[in-house]
Amino acid sequence: MPGLTAPSDYSKEPPRHPCLKINSKEPFNAEPPRSALTCSYVTPSDFFYKRNHGPIPIVEDIERYSVMISGLVEKPKQLFMKDIRMLPKYNVTATLQCAGNRRTAMSKTRPVKGVGWDVSAIGNAVWGGAKLSDVLELVGIPKLTSNTQFGGKHVEFVSVDKCKEEKGGPYKASIPLSQATNPEADVLLAYEMNGETLNRDHGYPLRVVVPGVIGARSVKWLEDINIIEEECQGFFMQKDYKMFPPSVDWDNINWSTRRPQMDFPVQCAICSLEDVSTIKPGKVKISGYAASGGGRGIERVDVSVDGGKTWIEASRCQKSGVQYIADGFNSDKWAWVLFEVTADIRQSTEIVAKAIDSAANIQPEKVEDIWNLRGILNTSWHRVKVQAGHSNL
Ligand code: MTE
Repeated sequence: MPGLTAPSDYSKEPPRHPCLKINSKEPFNAEPPRSALTCSYVTPSDFFYKRNHGPIPIVEDIERYSVMISGLVEKPKQLFMKDIRMLPKYNVTATLQCAGNRRTAMSKTRPVKGVGWDVSAIGNAVWGGAKLSDVLELVGIPKLTSNTQFGGKHVEFVSVDKCKEEKGGPYKASIPLSQATNPEADVLLAYEMNGETLNRDHGYPLRVVVPGVIGARSVKWLEDINIIEEECQGFFMQKDYKMFPPSVDWDNINWSTRRPQMDFPVQCAICSLEDVSTIKPGKVKISGYAASGGGRGIERVDVSVDGGKTWIEASRCQKSGVQYIADGFNSDKWAWVLFEVTADIRQSTEIVAKAIDSAANIQPEKVEDIWNLRGILNTSWHRVKVQAGHSNL
């Protein structure tokens, strides 16, 4: 492999922040504590969740590292980092969320398969890199193309990491060509995260960032881009990250009946309180994040301090000094909003939050109604129990 190699064991993993909650050590899967998430609009890389399916690849020689673009194109091309850096650079603030975020809570209803995550398999970063639509022009695919003259309709991203789900093969995924060639979809080949060189955990030297879509499609440690006719046939597109109804179980599942999940639905979670928290009776600050996929903004976040009987609208913010408007030009359309409300709480209760996006999609009330065997997309109302008592909160 030119420049990039994939170890077959976990002896050369990068250093990680000790505050991360480790959900699985090998492969390394970890999330920050809830409270760290809402400390800042942009999540520091150290605190950004890490979701891996194999050992972290190693760049042996950045000069030799390249991405090969081939498949149903007129002129296949090998691109080195210098070629990618020569293209116009864009900084896109985008929230990445693992489809398995909040899986642990779903598995309490009925067991599900997958790494257990609390509410922090999500983060908001400023990704810097070249637009995929510009990169594809280098192989003769114009902007806003949904079908190449050779029949290409999808763009497949292939990594080098060794994943057991792929029987030791690399992680891969695809997106439609129409999205890849649309400059407004802001799909990036990113080499920077929060103004710094991407680190190994997050895909160094180059990763895909597909804003508004579940994190699984943002392939890290990119090695090949293939223009293909059908969507990628890899495990993570065809046998994982699909949404099934609650009636489907492991003995009656037919993977081919569902499409790979792409956009993520409207989501929110309270981060200022654990479940269960002890509070001092009186004013309690309730804060968290809300996000929706497909570039839809957050129109409203409702918080209840009586288990969902009555609701208060929370304030929303992104960048300080810029008023947040769900579909406003100045708002980061791919990014989460942070919400906050202060309520008077005198007794033990359940606090609930739900968000509504700019298409008026609203989170489902009950996790039971959206239970699915892989435990993905738990976007049910987020609930935390608080006990009124003596606390320093
Ligand atoms: N890319 C590769 N090569 N290998 C992986 O295991 N995991 C995917 C995606 N890209 C993965 C990958 C999943 S499921 C998610 S949610 C995101 O990367 C997580 O990105 P992060 O670790 O930078 O937060």
